[in-house]
Amino acid sequence: SFELSLRPTRLSEYIGQDKVKENMAVYIAAARGRSESLDHILLYGPPGLGKTTLANIIANEMEVGIKYASGPALERGADLAAILSSLNPGDVFFIDEIHRLPRTIEEILYSAMEDYCLDIVVGKEASARSVRIDLPPFTLVGATTRAGDLSAPLRDRFGVVSRLEYYTTEHLQMIVERTAEIYDTPILTSAAFELARRSRGTPRVANRLFRRVRDFAQVLGEGLITEAVADDALERLEIDDSGLDYVDHKILRGIAERFNGGPVGLESLAASIGEESQTLEDVYEPYLLQEGFLKRTQRGRMLTEKAYRHLNIEIEDKKE
Ligand code: ADE
Repeated sequence: SFELSLRPTRLSEYIGQDKVKENMAVYIAAARGRSESLDHILLYGPPGLGKTTLANIIANEMEVGIKYASGPALERGADLAAILSSLNPGDVFFIDEIHRLPRTIEEILYSAMEDYCLDIVVGKEASARSVRIDLPPFTLVGATTRAGDLSAPLRDRFGVVSRLEYYTTEHLQMIVERTAEIYDTPILTSAAFELARRSRGTPRVANRLFRRVRDFAQVLGEGLITEAVADDALERLEIDDSGLDYVDHKILRGIAERFNGGPVGLESLAASIGEESQTLEDVYEPYLLQEGFLKRTQRGRMLTEKAYRHLNIEIEDKKE
């Protein structure tokens, strides 16, 4: 799909995440130099920062194949066995949302990762017996929004653990400009900067906003994305000056108005604003914390002064 063609395929095309990129380049060169498979890699960080893209790049740079699975979808040992036994030597096996693997599957993975073998039970009841299947060496690339949710034995089997960080505005601007070029859409530097600044440090958000802004530029303007076009489109999309969207506002206003600024527990907050607690925790909260709109305390989430200023609520208004 076109969405896929937006994704860089080489490390040299991948913008940002400099530390991860530099280290990965070394591990790849080293493994290739020894003609070995790459060690298992755990990528963690908020959604939309390029974990899947990086897994694809790793396979490309290693010149090996890649097979995909996702934690919650891998329900049966047989599904895992089918994928693992279809791998060619050195292939990447990518598991998205690896923190949601069923425990039974996770345990099968241990020996696969450590010894490249599968211990599975064949037959039923009295005729059941355990067989060992040898696997080719492979690289497990796991992706998760929070490494803390992985069991210690699984986490310990990754030789490389890399955290992806929110992108700087500068890097996001480069990504927006690259995307504009791929879509053959003219964009002014000031507009690319504005989009980048309001994309919550996240390339997936930047690319999605870019496509919407491009729609407005095409239909309501003359195709060129100017800062005025970008501003107007972002206002229509209810993206505020700090890049916060409708749900962010619902969260911040919810804490201010229904919980007197907090502290409030995640579940109470989620129920009160009608959002899934998982989504709040994985998608919204990390950015609000990083930008200092929220803080976490022992007793729950609290609004900061910055959030009150942003929402234009006087702190003196806070009910006692
Ligand atoms: N598109 C999405 N993420 C990207 C990145 N990190 N580098 C280049 N293009 C991207």
